[in-house]
Amino acid sequence: QTTVRVSPSALGFAAVPHSLADVVKVPSGYSVTVMTRLGDPLSASTAAYANDGSDSDFAHRIGDHGDALHFFGLSSAGGRDDGSSVRGLMVQNHENLNVQYLHPNGPTNVSSGPRPAAEALKEIEAHGVSVSEYQDAGSRKWSYVKGSSFNRRITPNTPMSFHGPAAGSSLLFTAYSATGIAGRGTINNCANGITPWATNLTCEENWAGYFRRDAADDAKRTAREMTAIARYGVTSRTGNFAWSTASSTDSIYTKWNATITGAAATDDYRNEFNQYGWVVEIDPYDPASTPRKRTALGRMGHEGAFVRAVAGQPLGVYMGDDSRREYLYKFVSSAAYAAADGASTSRLAMGDKYLDAGTLYVARFNADGTGQWLPLVFGSVPNRAATGTYPEYVFADQADILVNTRLAADAVGATPMDRPEWTAGNPVTGEIYLTLTNNNAAGRPLTGTDAANPRHYNDPKGASATAQYGNPNGHIIRLRETGDTTAATTFKWDIYLFGADAADAGAQVNLSGLTADNDFSSPDGCYFSRATNPAGQINPVLWIETDDGAMTDRTNCMLLAALPGHVGDGGAKTITNTGSGGATATQATYQGAPATAATLRRFLVGPVQCEITGIDMTPDGRTLFVGIQHPGEDGSAAAPSSHWPDSQTGTAAATVRPRSAIVAITKDDGGIIAL
Ligand code: FEO
Ligand code: CA
Ligand code: CA
Ligand code: CA
Repeated sequence: QTTVRVSPSALGFAAVPHSLADVVKVPSGYSVTVMTRLGDPLSASTAAYANDGSDSDFAHRIGDHGDALHFFGLSSAGGRDDGSSVRGLMVQNHENLNVQYLHPNGPTNVSSGPRPAAEALKEIEAHGVSVSEYQDAGSRKWSYVKGSSFNRRITPNTPMSFHGPAAGSSLLFTAYSATGIAGRGTINNCANGITPWATNLTCEENWAGYFRRDAADDAKRTAREMTAIARYGVTSRTGNFAWSTASSTDSIYTKWNATITGAAATDDYRNEFNQYGWVVEIDPYDPASTPRKRTALGRMGHEGAFVRAVAGQPLGVYMGDDSRREYLYKFVSSAAYAAADGASTSRLAMGDKYLDAGTLYVARFNADGTGQWLPLVFGSVPNRAATGTYPEYVFADQADILVNTRLAADAVGATPMDRPEWTAGNPVTGEIYLTLTNNNAAGRPLTGTDAANPRHYNDPKGASATAQYGNPNGHIIRLRETGDTTAATTFKWDIYLFGADAADAGAQVNLSGLTADNDFSSPDGCYFSRATNPAGQINPVLWIETDDGAMTDRTNCMLLAALPGHVGDGGAKTITNTGSGGATATQATYQGAPATAATLRRFLVGPVQCEITGIDMTPDGRTLFVGIQHPGEDGSAAAPSSHWPDSQTGTAAATVRPRSAIVAITKDDGGIIAL
């Protein structure tokens, strides 16, 4: 086995070059094992996946578009064991669909209906979360356990309960739950968070587009409702995949139509969209448990929910709202964290203790490298000003603030960001990293730059050669709380890294000194190696995953490893931006030290048309699990544009359909990954 560098000053692998091949590429000396794939059966009685569009029963199969993942350790006796690196429960989100590959000849009437109910049911059940048991047969020979009693699917039909200050609010009344304390399902599950008591937080991101509202619905809504509907974008007239048009009156289909039909809110699904947009807590060790929606953490396009737990301090939960010009949030629990609670077997009761009472804050980034957390507390949040045709919004109570969190964040003057994606915390210092994946000129014009979102230029690259003015390559910002405490209401920040294609010209482009060994675009997933990878480290590895449209002419999406240093390593810098028509503007900002070959390297490149998302390590640091999402997303049933993962180990037939899947990556000498 290789020497473990406990406090590495350099990464211990050779950078993986750009790749457009239809395989997962890893460094020399590493191997890839394909684990759970779209459609793999979880129950013993479910047939193997034919992958020709004929399969059904996705309530007992791995879902599509695998996103965030986490390995929860199991002991040999079958109980929770956080230290196990040989047996565990893989919990993975299933965000969305490559719908063209789910039916024999692609979907029927997918854009506006009518949909065959059997097709809609498959698509609904292919969303959500999966729990599957993983085992190492010895020396990191990984496989999943079909028929394990822990295996579970949570879908948009799974019963859930509401908790925290918005539970029971009339804003959550529906025909399913006239008292607003229950709901069904979770959807568009993106990134995650892990609690110290070993539950999984799944985050509902782009839920708004799944709902249909007929044009006639607008006139039936109050001005308050229309303000919230517009702010959250519940504006589709068909709903994604047109599920509400399915040939069935079952409410698992009709609930996706939020159009007002009756006199009272409890007659129909007018409020159904308020049941989504939450952080949902799941106990992976109890397949019979009911997931709990934690309303104290607010309702938005939740990307992820990184949990920082320090004994004696409140819990801090850091959360991005992923849309252009949305915000970064922090929830601070009322209860101080008692380390003994981390070992509790009443796991969801611990969630009740720490996640139902506390203060939700939103971030303001100042131009001088400082920042504030602004509380979203009823009584102190001002009215949200009128905008366009929408009148001033007066908050009714704390439940209103939590259901309509974006309106409250607008009102207190938070800083709009270039699409906040994942959050991750350095396990040694507590510094928080936030990926800002990209923005465009419509989302943020040249005149809209600020110190925290400072770039604007043209990148005419990517799949189309059209101009992409804005911040097409994205950046990563980070913050250090005052006093390093979770409860701090002020912080310092800098920009750790700017994405760029190192071959691109322009003074604003390659601000972080990237080279062919580490250039990237559109950071999305981010994750620090566990505190035990290895124990005693003072310089943990940061992993960065990409979801890119601006560099896919040069390389498929990728995973990079970094030794990122700390907030304040750099200093004040100035950027001269250019907009269309030759306009220029100067922006001062705070930047970390430039990247070097020793501190940032490309570790993995994925197959054709994939996104890399979802990442975790075993506690011993010797297996890395990575999610390969939506390979071949631009292809068709008749002409798949990727054949991964079949293409990983040989030449696949041209008709083979691609599948999202998790890969297990190990070092051939058994060493710790990346060191
Ligand atoms: Fe689901 Fe913002 O990525
Ligand atoms: Ca994402
Ligand atoms: Ca993304
Ligand atoms: Ca994606």
